[in-house]
Amino acid sequence: MSARDNGPKPRSFAWMNRDHLLLTGATGFLGGTIAARLLHEARWKDVLLLVRAPTPAGAWDRVIKSLNRFEVGEKLLKKISREQIICGGLADLPTLTEDPRLAGVTHVLNCAAVTSFGQNPNTWPTNVEHTQLFAQRVAKLPRLKRFVHVSTAMICGSTPPRVVFEDSYPAAGVHHLVGYTGSKAKAETLLRAELAGLPFVVARPSIIVGHTRLGCKPSGSIFWGFRMADALRMVTCEVDAVVDVIPVDYAAQAVLELLDAEKLRHTTYHISAGMDYSSSFREIGHAFARALGEARPGDYRHVSYRDVTALQNQFGEIFGPGNKRSMLAAARLYGTFAGLNTVFDNKRLLGEGIAAPPRFADYLDVCVESSKGISIAQQMLVDFE
Ligand SMILES: NC(=O)c1ccc[n+]([C@@H]2O[C@H](COP(=O)([O-])OP(=O)(O)OC[C@H]3O[C@@H](n4cnc5c(N)ncnc54)[C@H](OP(=O)(O)O)[C@@H]3O)[C@@H](O)[C@H]2O)c1
Repeated sequence: MSARDNGPKPRSFAWMNRDHLLLTGATGFLGGTIAARLLHEARWKDVLLLVRAPTPAGAWDRVIKSLNRFEVGEKLLKKISREQIICGGLADLPTLTEDPRLAGVTHVLNCAAVTSFGQNPNTWPTNVEHTQLFAQRVAKLPRLKRFVHVSTAMICGSTPPRVVFEDSYPAAGVHHLVGYTGSKAKAETLLRAELAGLPFVVARPSIIVGHTRLGCKPSGSIFWGFRMADALRMVTCEVDAVVDVIPVDYAAQAVLELLDAEKLRHTTYHISAGMDYSSSFREIGHAFARALGEARPGDYRHVSYRDVTALQNQFGEIFGPGNKRSMLAAARLYGTFAGLNTVFDNKRLLGEGIAAPPRFADYLDVCVESSKGISIAQQMLVDFE
């Protein structure tokens, strides 16, 4: 897939006429991208969405609002019917007797999670306990053919090796930088035990940033961190350190291909840029310069966090409006993740015939364009809810 050619493509898959999909997380970034893609397909009518809201009408409104972010157009939005929505959260998926629509479900795709890097009290209950309850209900679906659970490659914790392979994690004794990644690791372990013998597959995306056509319009998640580094012209890691970033439309396509594949060789897959498609900070800096039309004298400078702290009184000038302390804390946390200089091996995924991702540096201009007029502080909010 080239960076510009991301429209829905005909795929050969094992989806049968009577198959039905239950999708969670359609009001989110990845689940929304997946739902927006499915809207283009004939099987959309066989998709059920689990959505939180006080009423079914409210849930439907939330889905319309979410999918509108992907500019799918009025005609496709009209395909979303209220009958496709199950109103509720992960912990309260109805039983088969409570909701007969579930009896036909053959495929389940779980994109729901609390993804905040902040100290959100719902992180552990949602990502571990409610996800486990959801899996227990899914395990009872009589026609289940495949259950894809979306986890994160970042379950590798704070000191991963240079190249991470799928089977190395979850592992005991891993130190997590945030509660979110710890909860995702725990969920994987519990679900594997809970769903032993069932067609269960874990998809682990690396760092999802932007969309190759829409840039940051659907979500500016994490892109603000790269904007910060670029505004400073500084990174707290080697300039040649690489960062494993993929666009959301690539992640969505890869997840759907794992869902649809007739047979899979493995039960866990990284969805990642890997060694060959990750970008270095040197490349990212050059891509920013091209996108902003700037002639720059050199590359980013490798500095310490202390050097960044020393600039805090100039943050207003450098980053634009925003709370200095939150920006400093965010720069530290995201700088640590970005500076891990780790890639997530993607040979398993490519071995299934799934296309390689576009490189971040090659679609970064679309993210820059779509971020114009939005401050770094505004873009940051989504990651700390
Ligand atoms: N974005 C990334 O960089 C990234 C990278 C690697 C892996 N992932 C994984 O990809 C998945 C999707 O992430 P995302 O970026 O799309 O997250 P997101 O934008 O924060 O969306 C999260 C979705 O989960 C739903 N949700 C949260 N708690 C729920 C509950 N108790 N019951 C039902 N639904 C609930 C949210 O619904 P509401 O709208 O009702 O809150 C929303 O639709 C997650 O599993 C995440 O760990 C993401």
